[in-house]
Amino acid sequence: GFAIAPLLKETGNVTYDPGYMNTAGVKSAITYIDGDQGILRYRGYPIEQLAEKSSFIEVSYLLIYGELPTATQLEEFDTKIRRHTLLHEELKGFFDGFPRDAHPMPVLSSAVSALSTWYQDSLNPFDPEQVELSTIRLLSKVPVIAAYAHKKSIGQALLYPDNSMNLVENFMRLCFGLAAEPYELDPEMVKILDLLFVLHADHEQNCSTSTVRLVGSSDANLFASVSAGVNALFGPAHGGANEAVLKMLRQIQAEGISPEKYMEKVKNKEDGVRLMGFGHRVYKNYDPRAKIIKKAAESVLAKSAGGDELLEIAMRLEEKALADDYFIQRKLYPNVDFYTGIIYKAMGFPEKMFTVLFAIGRLPGWIAQWREMMEDPERKIGRPRQIYTGSSQREYPQS
Ligand code: ACO
Repeated sequence: GFAIAPLLKETGNVTYDPGYMNTAGVKSAITYIDGDQGILRYRGYPIEQLAEKSSFIEVSYLLIYGELPTATQLEEFDTKIRRHTLLHEELKGFFDGFPRDAHPMPVLSSAVSALSTWYQDSLNPFDPEQVELSTIRLLSKVPVIAAYAHKKSIGQALLYPDNSMNLVENFMRLCFGLAAEPYELDPEMVKILDLLFVLHADHEQNCSTSTVRLVGSSDANLFASVSAGVNALFGPAHGGANEAVLKMLRQIQAEGISPEKYMEKVKNKEDGVRLMGFGHRVYKNYDPRAKIIKKAAESVLAKSAGGDELLEIAMRLEEKALADDYFIQRKLYPNVDFYTGIIYKAMGFPEKMFTVLFAIGRLPGWIAQWREMMEDPERKIGRPRQIYTGSSQREYPQS
């Protein structure tokens, strides 16, 4: 059933529903969530099965085209993505224009937006061939842009993509490889990063996806719409939470505060402190992605030195929270971001890259949702209404 929130009020001809708690603006056949039971499915397939058996490339195909690919379709799709990884040399110049310590999220959104200046035919969102090309270009180039934003921030040379590698392998090499040395991939890390991308690939009408749809509803092209999605993901209440979780854990570690003490701060809402990585607009149960990620965190951390203390703090916070009335009453459980930061850190990514990793994972979902919207005969430009609370008419002062 559909719960009615207390804030929902009929006001004349409009419904006041801040945060769209109860308003469905779209019909979608892509992702199913049952937040009370903690169920997530892409195109009908349970996330647990996809996490175990599928790959990020396959899941991207599934989300965008609606069905799992045959072996031939998968190979063709993968080959296309490998062949579009190069960035125009002029676009690479773009990275020199930002300050060295720039956050990679605005660098990513700017570069994605700028793609339409190199591929000007993409400006027509109704040309299916161009939409297909933009789809492949985004899937290929976003990881490369992300890796270059990282390389620039640490003052290292940009490597050329190696098309003998798949998307995830290439991304790791572009982030961590050095021009002078061959890069040795760690197959376990590749597998776990691939898994994390699968788990982030879509989540129906979340803030960034709704943004992609809203921008696209004005017939803006796919690059412009996805660039807006990257910006929406940047905020700490959404994709930025993975970075915020790690900051929180490190602060607890540095100050030597006990999880109990930190919980008191959260419950008393001291300085607006929240338990980052907890709570979700839709899940009022354990986020099924967090369950899978927690296991991955344990296996990655077993291999890395030093990170396990943060994992331990996280696990103790979780244990305390799950047994605490404040969290029980509000149905606050760990969300997808609670453990991801710890894994990314163990892989060697700096904190500023965490939300970028989320963006790479979410990309196929944004593309699939944009394409579904553009093909929807019931599509309308997104244009919410408001309840005006300002002054009634008044006269401009006479001198
Ligand atoms: N820690 C402490 N209290 C919390 C938390 C939290 N993480 N999340 C919600 N609450 C409390 C609120 O204070 C509120 O309590 P109140 O009624 O006493 O004021 C109640 O739970 C309901 O919270 P809302 O903010 O109204 O819930 P909403 O659905 O609007 O927010 C959100 C969801 C933004 C995810 C929120 O839980 C939050 O801020 N979490 C921390 C940030 C985070 O982890 N974000 C990632 C979300 S998942 C994602 O984007 C992948």
